[in-house]
Amino acid sequence: MNKRSTFTGGIGFVMAAAGSAVGLGNLWRFPYLAAQYGGGIFLLVYIILLFTFGFAMLMTEISIGRKTKLSCIGAYKKLCSKFAFLGYLAWLVPLLILPYYAVIGGWVLKYTLVYLTGQGSAAASDTYFSAHISQTGSPIIMFLIFLIATAVVVALGVQKGIERISKILMPVLIVIAIGVSIYVLTLPDAVEGLKYYLIPDVSKFSFKTIAAAAGQLFFSLSIAMGIMVSYGSYVRDEVSLVKSVNQVELFDTLIALLSGLMIIPPVVIYSGAEATANKGPGLMFMALPKVFDSMPAGTFIGALFFILVLLAALTSSISILEATTSMLIDRWKLSRPKSVIILTIFSVVIGIAVSLGFGLWSDFTIGGMDLLTFFDYITNSVLMPIVTFFTCILIGWVVGTKGLEAEIQKNGEVFRRKLVMRVMVKYVTPVMMVLILIVYNLAQFGIINI
Ligand code: ALA
Repeated sequence: MNKRSTFTGGIGFVMAAAGSAVGLGNLWRFPYLAAQYGGGIFLLVYIILLFTFGFAMLMTEISIGRKTKLSCIGAYKKLCSKFAFLGYLAWLVPLLILPYYAVIGGWVLKYTLVYLTGQGSAAASDTYFSAHISQTGSPIIMFLIFLIATAVVVALGVQKGIERISKILMPVLIVIAIGVSIYVLTLPDAVEGLKYYLIPDVSKFSFKTIAAAAGQLFFSLSIAMGIMVSYGSYVRDEVSLVKSVNQVELFDTLIALLSGLMIIPPVVIYSGAEATANKGPGLMFMALPKVFDSMPAGTFIGALFFILVLLAALTSSISILEATTSMLIDRWKLSRPKSVIILTIFSVVIGIAVSLGFGLWSDFTIGGMDLLTFFDYITNSVLMPIVTFFTCILIGWVVGTKGLEAEIQKNGEVFRRKLVMRVMVKYVTPVMMVLILIVYNLAQFGIINI
């Protein structure tokens, strides 16, 4: 049997896991959700959930991986054979996310090239984004370049591919994020924009705020995607999980908060609070180029910003492909290159359909949703809560949390948040998942009003 690949040590693991966590979720999704759900109040709910639910599930998944030394399909089965189904469910999540993630990655690549070639003003026009994504050729070519870059890194393996690229890209990413954020703070009227972003307005709080923040945590921390179980399985026994998980959590949150700072105040300043709240997923691609167009040194800042998003998206899509790849390797004993090729071909087929969903095939919808929205909905609002619910039942009620706690403390670490993890996994998270599944989905289809 082949020896299992590992990260070289704690830093390698933290960089790779943070690389996975920090992605389009932080830079594209977090700011528009924060804007849509009332700025400061969303932030507050997000942070409370991060230190409770997000932390508990991140720690649970990473420690399941390290304890079993297997990716999802084998890991859940090893803990309890009746839960083998959970591994397959968890495998579906990254399988369905990668194609659409790479399509958005392709859009980001396009914008990066546009800014690097000094054409930022064109991107600021009202129709630029919809005109680009509805084309047949260009978005598909960009998607393929992004996907192939992802596949090459994953094919190179855990140390030579994933760890090496994360160690180079993550520090670059943080420097750019801090640089652009400082620049935003120097803009005239920055305080007005900051107020909108940071001060909670409780009147905007509803159940939807909790559901949206929890959904965002899944996406942002890469939980319920099989990713953290796989990455956990590559962590050496001597590495401190307590320290590493704290660092990943902090890294991801810092970049999410900075993303909000880079995007929301400038859009509030240049386009007004209403425009910010109503833009939804288009915030980064439609509202932000207008801001870059009107701000001093906008083309340069725009180029830096989109390079940042591109690097973040790449290290995340690498982890999404790695999760499915490691499961093919573990479960079906395929070689790494063969696994990567099979999964890439699958993603090319689905991704092309997703891309064409904005143009040639725009008449084709599922439940009124275009394919991208559909895959995002089915993974985030249906599969991830189900995977998390059963993970909590397995760990909290069937095998008990003690085994994972022992894994986490096996080098004599002090695990201060043990009780938080226990209570969240056993009681709070399963109830929250059932509520999200039922209430949020009924609301989604207009059956109830929340
Ligand atoms: N965690 C990754 C992101 O935030 C998937 O984009």
